[in-house]
Formats: sequence, structure tokens, C-alpha cells
Amino acid sequence: MSDTTATGDEATLAPEALTEAHAAAELARLAGLLARADAAYHGDDAPEMSDAEYDAFKQRNAAIEARFPALKRADSPSDKVGTTPAEAFGKITHAVRMLSLANAFDAGDVADFDQSIRSYLNLGPDAPLAYTAEPKIDGLSLSLRYEGGALVHAATRGDGATGENVTANARTIAEIPTRLDAAPEVLEVRGEVYMAHDDFAALNARQADMGGKTFANPRNAAAGSLRQLDAGITKSRPLRFFAYAWGELSAPLAETQKGALDRLAGFGFSTNPLTRICETVEDMLAHYREIEAQRATLGYDIDGVVYKINDLALQHRLGYRSATPRWAIAHKFPAELAWTRLEGIDIQVGRTGALSPVARLQPVTVGGVVVSNATLHNEDYIAGRGASGEAIRGGKDIRAGDWVQVYRAGDVIPKVADVDLSQRPADAVPYSLPNTCPECGSPAIREEGDAVRRCTGGLICPAQAVEKLKHFVSRGAMDIEGLGAKQVEAFYHDDQLPVKEPADIFTLQRRDSQNLSKLANRDGWGATSANNLFQAIEEKRKIPMARLLFGLGIRHVGEVAAQDLARHYGGWAAMTAALDSARPAALAHRAADEAADAERRRAAEEGRRARVAEARRRTLETAETPVAASEAWDDLIGADGIGPVLALSLSDAFANAHERAAIDRLIAELIEITPPERRAGDSPVAGKTVVFSGSLEKMTRAEAKARAEALGAKVAGSVSAKTDLLVAGPGAGSKADKAAALGVETLDEDGWLALIGAA
Ligand code: IVH
Repeated sequence: MSDTTATGDEATLAPEALTEAHAAAELARLAGLLARADAAYHGDDAPEMSDAEYDAFKQRNAAIEARFPALKRADSPSDKVGTTPAEAFGKITHAVRMLSLANAFDAGDVADFDQSIRSYLNLGPDAPLAYTAEPKIDGLSLSLRYEGGALVHAATRGDGATGENVTANARTIAEIPTRLDAAPEVLEVRGEVYMAHDDFAALNARQADMGGKTFANPRNAAAGSLRQLDAGITKSRPLRFFAYAWGELSAPLAETQKGALDRLAGFGFSTNPLTRICETVEDMLAHYREIEAQRATLGYDIDGVVYKINDLALQHRLGYRSATPRWAIAHKFPAELAWTRLEGIDIQVGRTGALSPVARLQPVTVGGVVVSNATLHNEDYIAGRGASGEAIRGGKDIRAGDWVQVYRAGDVIPKVADVDLSQRPADAVPYSLPNTCPECGSPAIREEGDAVRRCTGGLICPAQAVEKLKHFVSRGAMDIEGLGAKQVEAFYHDDQLPVKEPADIFTLQRRDSQNLSKLANRDGWGATSANNLFQAIEEKRKIPMARLLFGLGIRHVGEVAAQDLARHYGGWAAMTAALDSARPAALAHRAADEAADAERRRAAEEGRRARVAEARRRTLETAETPVAASEAWDDLIGADGIGPVLALSLSDAFANAHERAAIDRLIAELIEITPPERRAGDSPVAGKTVVFSGSLEKMTRAEAKARAEALGAKVAGSVSAKTDLLVAGPGAGSKADKAAALGVETLDEDGWLALIGAA
């Protein structure tokens, strides 16, 4: 017979040792405890427990429920929506964005990197050009701000623009000085927080002894330790820091990258001792091999080598692309590999309806991380064919039941590298993608020229609708605090508080509804978190145009294109009017593309190629597109960064009656769509449309374009009535004639440099 009374011992007994009565009492205690912790976490109160304690209590609750399923409570903590620690930290906006690095995977990529820099700077192949080469530390980046020599705050990278305030935690790291002598008044030091192998092993052993959470690898351990709500816990974790870069500075540190690192070392920071100066690509590759050879004995994880232009003046000239510097690159070590069984192939339906096959794998450890699925891209990839029909993996196809080799490189989704045909089960059959969407049953069609099969269900497909919503609330789009992927998915399936399309997020929040109290009573929510969410939604009724446009999730319209479009049109109404006006021309171009494709097929058969362009031209001519439509279309595809594929996709989205109605419902909920910021409002070229033509002598075309854009100008490829300025070098030819005919102001290169203050 088991006990029928709880004794108070239940809190200390292992789940296996609990009687039924003990278990019921313990589940009640855990439910109360975790609910209070949630409330403290979401509200402004001081948090009651660390992430690790919270997780341990949740696990204990789940273990007891697994033993006594009948005792599971209606308010069970297991059913609550998880909390995002990020919400618990304050945010810090970086004074200078924290960017990431472009990657090189082989010697050819490194040579291309050097070549692209030389061509950007107009340097010959033998002109001297020095790089630093140093290990790429596999940790997490941190920005430390010092004012008057005192550490004032520390922030994680976050989305690059804003990070989490982890100042109290950073102060506990011995390798981070809290005071600097003789440093510039403002100095932001950037580098990597990491955990050494020995310390990682010892920490995991300690955690296991305490029955706490162990970490999969040192990087996760470092991240989990830095992002503790209780700085006392961070202090007990052996974190280290390498300085390798900087953000805002009130005075330059040095003239070279290496000189700046030496200054940082002089302030007391650790800088990596394997940093070298390399004068040639061969030197860079030699140092890469040297670092790779030492990798296993360094005592901490690295995942590649970073090369940076040594001369800081050249770094400044090279500047940045949207998310990465032109002056640096990460040369990654080859991916780690492991063999395992492919148990099955699942299909995920994405926001644009793409059916993505995913390999379900028998879990296997690859480079310290357990991998249980891998991307299979598309049906050609599964069949052993690359993008242009060439054989990949020696032409071997992938089947359920196969013994496959998977690899992982950095944070990317694992992939299948190889198949062992000798281990293929006799009954394995070739895989074919379904012809209907597994989520909504609509036909799934693969159009000619597209590698991907797509569900044609549009918004009636729940998978597409949910993925669109997730994209809409994602970081680069609406970024609504408290409303992440998990929450929108829950709302999508919630009959009482349904969110089926973006506009519903705002109608959900409307003040005159009962929704606030309904939400506050939901599991995982309370009055404070519901209120916070509604407040966060209200704040997003004013939204930058580029974020809104990106958030719509239109195929081909990524963050950069959305910025380009916003800058090009300067406002939402101007853009939609232009798209509506351009529609007939967009249709004519689609018809012309189709005619050209048909002709291309015929010509390939008959060996006559000249007819393709002719078919395109004839179709366009017979389309009788209104002049205004052609102008609007030409203006759209003349915009910098916008090509015909993107333009057609955008036009289709706004011309589709269902999609347009959903967009308009969303717009009606918004208060203000803010036009793009001019990047440098005081420049005389800010907001102007500039065309470069002919050859430039003092800088390359790429540099000229990047500089103009940095000053807030739009750079277009062709002269039209909208052009404000033509910068014409020798040989400008027909563009110069057209500019003259249209009365467009024309400058030579020196005139341009004087205008932008660079002469
Ligand atoms: S330089 C403008 N140097 O790699 C970017 N980054 O993949 C300046 N990282 O976000 C970064 N070791 O977190 C730089 N020696 C090193 C690095 C390094 C690791 C990280 C950093 C960055 C990421 C990019």
C-alpha cells in the first residue's frame, strides 16, 4: 500500500521515489513555483531563479508527470509556452553595427577575395597589400563600451543593430578589464567570449554531479553562461575573452589592424597570439595550414581563420556591404563528417509554398553536436543532380533506409555529403516528391526552370500561412517583442484569439475588444505579459517601410531588396501606385519571357538561336502596353538592385486579389509607414538619383556606387527623366547624349568628388 498523505519530503525525493500522494503534492508545488517564476520573468520584478534552476524544475515536473500521467494538472507547467531569456535582458543599441563576416571555403575563395579587393581599389596583382590572419574563435561576440576608461556597458551582438545588455555578467569575466589607462575617451572593444576545453569539461562534470543541465559544446556553454539572469552564476563559470575588433572610437587606435590589436593588448586585453601579417595569398594559406595543424592542441574551439586588410585607411575605403565588411573574410575549416542511417524523408512547406525535403536521421554526433535531420534541398538534389543537371555525389541518389554521410559546417543546417550504396537495403525505392501538398492537399507543381516544387494553395495552406506569419514577426521585419514564431503559431490555431494573417495581429490587440483579458487567462500568459504584448503591438503600428515590405514575405524580396525599393520609391503610396501602373508592362514581360523560353526550346532543337530575342521583342511589341506602364516598369527595373525576376514577383504579389486584400487590411491597421532614412541627410547628393557612366579614373565603379549610396543617393543603371545627376567619365557615350536631351545635370569625375567633398 502506498502512503496517502504528503509529508513535505516530496521536494527532496527523486521522481522515482515518490508515492502518488507525494507526487500530487509535488506537482502542485512545482506548478506554483514555476508560475511565480514566469510572472517575475515577464514582469519588471527581479527574477526569482536562474535559467538552469528553472529548467531543472521543469524537467522534474515532466519526469513526475511521466510516472503519474493521471496526476497531470490542468495548469501543468509542461503546457506553457516557453519563455525567451532574451526578453529578460535590457536592450542596447550598438553605436556602430556589429556585422558578421563573409566566408571562404577554399584557396580559390581566398584568391577571389584578394582579387576583389584589388579590383575595388584599382590595385594591380603585384601591388603590395598586407593582411592580418588570425584564428576565428568559436564563441559569441561581445561589445564592451568604455567611457573615460571605465567599462560602462557590455552587449551581445543580437541582430547586429541591438543586443542584450549583459554588463553585470561581463564584469565578472577576469579577462575583461573594468578600467583602462590612457584609452580614448570613447572606446568600444569587440571580441569573442569563449570557454576553454578544460574548463568546459570541468563545468559539465560539475553540472552532471548537481543533476543540472550539461552543455553540448563549449560554445553553448559560453553562451548559456554569459546569458544568465544571475551574474553570480556567470561569475562561477570560467569564461574568457579575446579582443579582435572595435566599434565606436573617439580617436583612432593606430594606422593598422595589427597596431590596433597591439594597443588593445596594451590596455590589458588578451589578443590572439597566432595573429600574423601576410603579404600574399600564399602567406595567408600557409598560415591557415599552420593554425589548422595546431587546432587540436590550442585548448579552445576555433572554426577557421579570419583575414583582414591591415591598413585601416584601406579598410575605410573598402567599407561594408549590407551585412559584411569588404575588407575581411573568414576562411572556414572543412566541415565535420559522420555516417548514420537515413530513416525517412519528411516534407516541410515554406512561406512561399516551397516543398522542402528534410532527411530524418538516426541521431549522430557531428563535431560535438547531435544531428537528427539534414536538408535535402529539392528533388534534383535527392536524385543526385546539381543545379545545372550535372552529377553530384557521383550521381548517387538518396533513399529512405540509406547509410549516409552527414556534415556540418558552422551554424549551417547539416547536409548529406555521400551515400554508401553497398549498405543500401534491398527494398529501398527511389524517392519522388509528392504531387500534392502534404499540409493542405492542393496540387504541388514544379514550374519549368524552377528547381523547387511548390504548393499552389496560397494562404489557404495552413503551413504557408503560418510560415508567412512567422516571417512577418521575425527580427528583420516587425520584430514584435513577446511575439515570436512559437506564439504566432499558437495564435494561428487558437479559435478564440485567431491570427490568420498579419492584419489579425493588430485587430487582436484593438483596445475595444475583450482580447486582453482572454489572453491574460491563457496558459503561459498573465496580465503583465498580455499587457506587454499589446503594448509592443501598438508600438509597431508605426513601422519603417522596408521592414513592412520585407515582412510581407514576397518571393525574392529580401531585406536588402526591400531597402532598395523603399529608397527608390521613398514611400508606400508611391510604390503601390507605381506597381499598379506598371502591371500591364509586367504582364507583357512575363509573356515575352514565356515566348522567349518557347522559342529557346524550339531553337535548341532546330539550332537557331537568333530567334529567341526576336520572339521576345515581337511579344512585347504586340502587347500594346500603355506608355505609363512601360515607364513605371522601366523605372522599377532601373532601380539599383532590382532585376526583372524580383520585379515580376513583386508585381504578381500586389496584383493578386487575395494577397492585395490582405496587404490592404494590414495597411489599414497601421498608423504610419515611415519612409527610409536618408543615410546622410546633409550630403548634397542625399536622395538624388545618380547614374555613373564611362570610365572613372580615381576610383572603381563599385567604390563610386558604394560611396554614393553611403551618402544617401540612389544609384541607377540607366538615364531617365528621374535621373538627377550623370557622372560621366571618358566614353560615356549614349548615356551622356540622353542626359543632355533630358536636361539632366552632368558632372565629370572631379566635379563629382568635389560635390561629395572627397576632392
Ligand atoms: S572580426 C566586422 N575576428 O565571427 C566583423 N570576428 O562570422 C568583425 N569571430 O561576428 C569581426 N573570431 O563573432 C573577427 N578573429 C576574429 C573572430 C571573429 C571569431 C566571430 C565574430 C563575428 C563572426 C563572423
